[in-house]
Amino acid sequence: MNSTTRRGLLKGGVAMTAGLAAGKASAAGPDPLITELQDWASYTGAGVDETPYGMPIRFESHVVRRNVEWLTASPISSINFTPIHALDGTITPQGCAFERHHSGAIELSKDDYRLMINGLVDRPLVFTYDDLERFPRENHVYFCECAANTGMEWAGSQLNGVQFTHGMIHNMEYTGIPLRTLLKEAGADMSADKWVYVEGADASSNGRSIPMEKALDDVLVAFKANGEALRMEHGYPVRLVVPGWEGNMWVKWLRRVEVVDVAVESREETSKYTDVYEDGTARKWTWVMDAKSVITSPSPQMPIKHGAGPLVISGLAWSGHGQITRVDVSKDGGITWETARLGKQGDTKALTRFYLDTTWDGKPMLLQARAMDETGYVQPTKDQLREQRGENAVYHNNCIQTWYVSPEGIAENVEVS
Ligand code: MTE
Ligand code: CO
Repeated sequence: MNSTTRRGLLKGGVAMTAGLAAGKASAAGPDPLITELQDWASYTGAGVDETPYGMPIRFESHVVRRNVEWLTASPISSINFTPIHALDGTITPQGCAFERHHSGAIELSKDDYRLMINGLVDRPLVFTYDDLERFPRENHVYFCECAANTGMEWAGSQLNGVQFTHGMIHNMEYTGIPLRTLLKEAGADMSADKWVYVEGADASSNGRSIPMEKALDDVLVAFKANGEALRMEHGYPVRLVVPGWEGNMWVKWLRRVEVVDVAVESREETSKYTDVYEDGTARKWTWVMDAKSVITSPSPQMPIKHGAGPLVISGLAWSGHGQITRVDVSKDGGITWETARLGKQGDTKALTRFYLDTTWDGKPMLLQARAMDETGYVQPTKDQLREQRGENAVYHNNCIQTWYVSPEGIAENVEVS
């Protein structure tokens, strides 16, 4: 760019800023960032050999996973949360994607990796990592949501940040082999009434039963996420991807797939990840994550700093049943609704970004988002969900979330009824 063009552009920029932010730049006199030569334009910057593998610039060091210390007894069997308030678009970088381990993250090399397929198969097989790389592979973007995401909201508004209320979710592009390909290779009994029991190589093993229909549908044996190897914490070198279904079934460090006649009824699918009703009976086989959405900005960690005027309200929506077809946003706690703009349509079982480009009058707001999916399902209110499930529930909370925004732009987690 030559200097004349650059000056021309900058002038335009100043005029725009003045219009938007009520003349902030002009009131304070000439802006030295515009009029004076800065250090970064006076000297050379860093060389290409200084960061062989990059980290975010230091100004973004607050965009990190965080945990809530009192939530679990120890950091070994624990959870941390994706900073969804600070991200945009839909892809979650692995470096800040939430992690959930039942017995800590293990370090398993590709050389030591083995995947066994046994049970009701003609040929029990053991694959090495190199074997897996020789099967035809696919790329798909999917969300992974822990069934416990938003779980604390059953009992009220206790966590003041969308990272903590909704951050047990990530959305990555996986590279993997359809599980059906490996089942065929082993000559598995693929009758509709069969199941696969999948387990990991970690001490918890996190065993889960998956009905054959799902195993043959879209389940992936994945070894890359967002183009690169899985991070250790996400199951390096190989994890299971179970699109649209609760995160617990996405077995990490996948070591065995057993074809079985009946569901195993393991710990993770009986005493955990089921929803106990008021009368003590439990809802089980609640695998699919129902449609859900949340406003990520403004939110408690993302106050409005610019006062009244143009405001971009943004958030995420997703459904384990397929595509998000519509997201509505309310500024008055669900009395009136406006339809938001979807960043990109058509992704299935993946995060969808939505925006409401609006004007804020500076008055208090009760912000809510409500998602609809391709089945016609509409995200329920908290009260509707409590009526259906009672107050004992921990998992599968997909209720509409409310943020109160004060005239100062401060947002807080509240409930409306
Ligand atoms: N797989 C194994 N082997 N061990 C585990 O502890 N945790 C499960 C699942 N798979 C777990 C596992 C749970 S509860 C969730 S929500 C997801 O992994 C989380 O995946 P992530 O850590 O990549 O976010
Ligand atoms: Co989980």
